[in-house]
Amino acid sequence: MLVWSDRFATNIELVDLQHKKLFELLNKLSDSFKQGSPSDVMVYETLQELMDYADKHFVDEELLMVQSKVDPRHINIQRMEHRSFLYDIKNMSGHLCTEDDFKEVSEKLVCFVTSWLTFHILGIDQAMAAQIVAIQHGATPEQAYDSLSTVKYDAAVTHLMLDSVMELWHMSLERCHRLEDKLDALNEVADAKHQ
Ligand SMILES: [Fe+2]
Repeated sequence: MLVWSDRFATNIELVDLQHKKLFELLNKLSDSFKQGSPSDVMVYETLQELMDYADKHFVDEELLMVQSKVDPRHINIQRMEHRSFLYDIKNMSGHLCTEDDFKEVSEKLVCFVTSWLTFHILGIDQAMAAQIVAIQHGATPEQAYDSLSTVKYDAAVTHLMLDSVMELWHMSLERCHRLEDKLDALNEVADAKHQ
């Protein structure tokens, strides 16, 4: 369960409203996994609702950055993060098909979205908001982007971000190991064919 607090606020009304809605949908998804099964329509409807809403939010955020004249170096990184989130969540949801995998995959999905939203909102979304404010106060997009390196995070935020990034890193590592195992198995089959 991800609980909203002022730490997540960007002070951009639309963005904060949409982030709160994403928290709500994540918690709804977590509940639907606890109550549902792979054959449950409710699980897929809730998952689809979260993916659709995240997609809409990313489009709005990207439009806001362009309209606010945020430096393209930042916009490109943020766009890439948005695309990679949608790719990953779609990919993971494709593995929710059997009763055996369902519990494990659904827990991973909730953990992934929780960590991703925490890291993304406390990190790149706050950086976006800081640049928008700086530009509104007369900085050029380049100055606003370059001044990000001097931003100081408080200890609690740094702690939350580190926990989230470690969680995401562990999940990526696990996926790499699974891929390596599959590759080894394929190589063994190929070797056996050539003998
Ligand atoms: Fe966002």
